[in-house]
Amino acid sequence: MSDTVAGLLAEIADLGRDPVRGGWSRPVLSDAELGLREWFVAHADKRGLDVHTDRNGVLWAWHAPEGRYDDAVVTGSHLDSVPGGGAYDGPLGVASALVAFDRLAAEGVGGRPRAIAVFPEEEGSRFGVACLGSRLLTGALAPERALGLRDPDGRTLAEVLTAAGGVPEHLGPDPEALGRMGVFVELHVEQGRGLVDLGRPVAIGSSILGHGRWRVRLEGAGNHAGTTVMADRRDPMVAAGALVVAVQRLARAVRGARATVGRLEPTPGGTNVIASRVDLWVDVRHEDDALTLALVEEIRAAAVLAAAEQGCTATLVEESFSTTVDFDADLRDELSVVLPGAPVLATGAGHDAGVLKEHVPSAMLFVRNPTGVSHAPDEAVEDDDAEAGAQALARVLRHLAGPARAVS
Ligand code: GLV
Ligand code: MN
Ligand code: MN
Repeated sequence: MSDTVAGLLAEIADLGRDPVRGGWSRPVLSDAELGLREWFVAHADKRGLDVHTDRNGVLWAWHAPEGRYDDAVVTGSHLDSVPGGGAYDGPLGVASALVAFDRLAAEGVGGRPRAIAVFPEEEGSRFGVACLGSRLLTGALAPERALGLRDPDGRTLAEVLTAAGGVPEHLGPDPEALGRMGVFVELHVEQGRGLVDLGRPVAIGSSILGHGRWRVRLEGAGNHAGTTVMADRRDPMVAAGALVVAVQRLARAVRGARATVGRLEPTPGGTNVIASRVDLWVDVRHEDDALTLALVEEIRAAAVLAAAEQGCTATLVEESFSTTVDFDADLRDELSVVLPGAPVLATGAGHDAGVLKEHVPSAMLFVRNPTGVSHAPDEAVEDDDAEAGAQALARVLRHLAGPARAVS
């Protein structure tokens, strides 16, 4: 197989392109994401890998010598995206996995079974909970809760899954699938400028910043924009505006904290209508989990105050929270031997590797992103760096799989 990472990514460049937002919108179980899954399955079939989808919608492509599906070296990533995201967040890891597997096959690397895993809804951009597939697989998220999650159109995961031919009752912890994993290595585009500043193409991951999402609901009184005098209003949009400013002020006061309001939904959302309700989502991150939760409490208090000032009410609920993750130190050190000189970098972004790490020794590789931008169309990777990433992944997988044997 002579596929390159850039060539593979070029094949999917039109899937999920978003002419309105720019970039790509590939929400889980959308036509675009289902098309990407088909693309992956076709490539896995072409390579003679044994493909199946598990009870939580994780796609697995196995190289299982002598029918062994245990203690596997697993790599992979995700194919869903944020709204208007870049081309590399997720697909780079999947395409690199295919190219790395080609290299191992060409070298006749046997030894341990190996697999590529593609995790659904890593971004949580449709149903609100990030790393939904790996959380379900590991039991970190109860299936009853997952099935009731709603997308921005109000459809539950159970409804959307059923419409796509899935079986909601199958969702849930999967100790068998998890137990087959011996080690997991996820390759990902870097989502910052660490490698640019160091002048290096590939890094090893050290940790993931703790992070979570909270939904704030502000409720007031819907009314007419022309007939309601200013003194008579209970406008939750004004409370939302004050809260957005407060979130920035509060986060700036905590060294190392990051807090973002990236999504806000007024109901009913008419130009000449005073909203009756505004939902907004706050993403809060800090390496010290206690400080993250303390900051969220300050945001809750600010929401209640901003609401009260407008005669409105506020509630804040947690949608997901992931504590700070330090990757397995022994595995990280092993990777440093396999990739001498590769810098070791932390990331502020969440990943399935962070969820899996609680159950399976896990590691990450990052590939240089010349713009440093991510979750936006300007995310970038040079073709040579993409190949360097895939070759680094191949070296890591080869090392983990055991000694190479000569091609017969
Ligand atoms: C996922 O990329 C996240 O960090 O939210
Ligand atoms: Mn992402
Ligand atoms: Mn990602």
